[in-house]
Amino acid sequence: MLIEGEFDSRPVQHIRDFRFLGEAHQPQTAHELALLVGVVLPRSPAWEAEDSLDELGRLASSASLEEVDRILQSRKRIDPTYYIGKGKAAEVGKRAQALGVDLIIFDNDLSPAQMRNLETLTKRRILDRSGLILDIFSRHARSRTSRVQVELAQLNYMLPRLTRQWSHLSRQAGGGATGGMGAAGVRGPGETQLETDRRLVRSRISALSRELKRIDGQMATSRKQRLGQFKVVLVGYTNAGKSTLMHAISGADVLVQDQLFSTLDSTTRALNLDNHRKIFLTDTVGFIKRLPHHLFASFRAPLEETVEADLLLHVVDMSHPHYEAQMATVEQVLAELDVADRPTIVVFNKIDSIGNGDEQEEHADALAAQPDRVAVSALTGVGMENLREKILYYCHREEVTLELRIPQREGRLLSQLHEHAEILEQSYDSDEVHVTVRLDQCWAGRWQLERFTVAELATL
Ligand code: GTP
Repeated sequence: MLIEGEFDSRPVQHIRDFRFLGEAHQPQTAHELALLVGVVLPRSPAWEAEDSLDELGRLASSASLEEVDRILQSRKRIDPTYYIGKGKAAEVGKRAQALGVDLIIFDNDLSPAQMRNLETLTKRRILDRSGLILDIFSRHARSRTSRVQVELAQLNYMLPRLTRQWSHLSRQAGGGATGGMGAAGVRGPGETQLETDRRLVRSRISALSRELKRIDGQMATSRKQRLGQFKVVLVGYTNAGKSTLMHAISGADVLVQDQLFSTLDSTTRALNLDNHRKIFLTDTVGFIKRLPHHLFASFRAPLEETVEADLLLHVVDMSHPHYEAQMATVEQVLAELDVADRPTIVVFNKIDSIGNGDEQEEHADALAAQPDRVAVSALTGVGMENLREKILYYCHREEVTLELRIPQREGRLLSQLHEHAEILEQSYDSDEVHVTVRLDQCWAGRWQLERFTVAELATL
């Protein structure tokens, strides 16, 4: 039996299965139909709303939903009651009915009240952008960390949206999110069902937050073990090709899918780009425009890898018509993470899908001369050698070559040097080892090698 407030690691339930009118909605598995709704406001161009709706369509398909139609309304301002106008909302409801669609997805965040009003008016389930993203997150969460993070984000999202129209959480079948609270769903004295539900959700939130703190501690330890190594982190807009690139660079068996947010858990691989230097390459969650802040907060663990990076590879889908806007979104997030000035190589990916061979070569040549830009195709391998060289350039930039005289009694230091540095020369006299090493600057600092340094040589 599950005790209230206890951590339970059953799988996360999908959030859209919680959004229903009246009695329990049966979770859908294959291709539920959805109608998409977006709004064009005077302050931004129409193409932006259209682009965003395209992205919503791709998000929907990542959640196994089938877009059957889309409605875009131009408005001067947002309607506080229905988000779109009441007349338009009624029209959307009729359209959904005519198409046999049960789910309407808004390309914006709706307030809990707007969501309820729209559900009542259209008699359809309503999902907003955050809800849809959370739904996808819950489908793709694999590791314990991301499952806990997703469930936490879901519950925080659900808490203000709990209404009496929701079926009692204690009756939800299956595991995960609120389902994990089933056994504890006993109503307290004088408590309404809604109050009980809120209490259960809050208690689960505290249990998950405690669990997350514990996991964070473990992750910090494993990051510490990698301290002193050169860390390269892949960032980029979702679907830019980060996982494919990770695979191309490291040969790792990383999940590649034509789906948004196929990577929720950061994956790290150690690899040797040249013979002596080990680097750590990490793939992270894809960025997306208008990913609500509270979702970023809940995905801080993979993004923390970014904060630890020595070098960022900003992967850009060059074949996307608005790739520059996507780059700006990523740059904005990097600025929020305080890593905007971190050494970065912008990797223009998917070069195979733009223009003909000559144009592709032109692009590649134009960028090849700049140390912080490169054009590649992670799929065909074009430009990968350039990218490897550029990573090594940054990697070596951090290195120093030192001539050291180390007393023989410093056995531990000598073995650490053999493990983490490249020994270029070594000789012995009576009680000292003369050694020339090439190593990362931070190791030199950590071991206080200045105590034994005779000379610093030019690093080749
Ligand atoms: P998220 O997990 O959403 O962040 O995606 P991602 O950036 O990791 O993208 P992923 O590697 O999963 O690739 C997305 C899609 O782009 C897949 O269908 C890939 O096959 C395709 N793709 C990746 N690289 C290339 C490329 O160089 N050329 C072409 N034509 N397609 C590519």
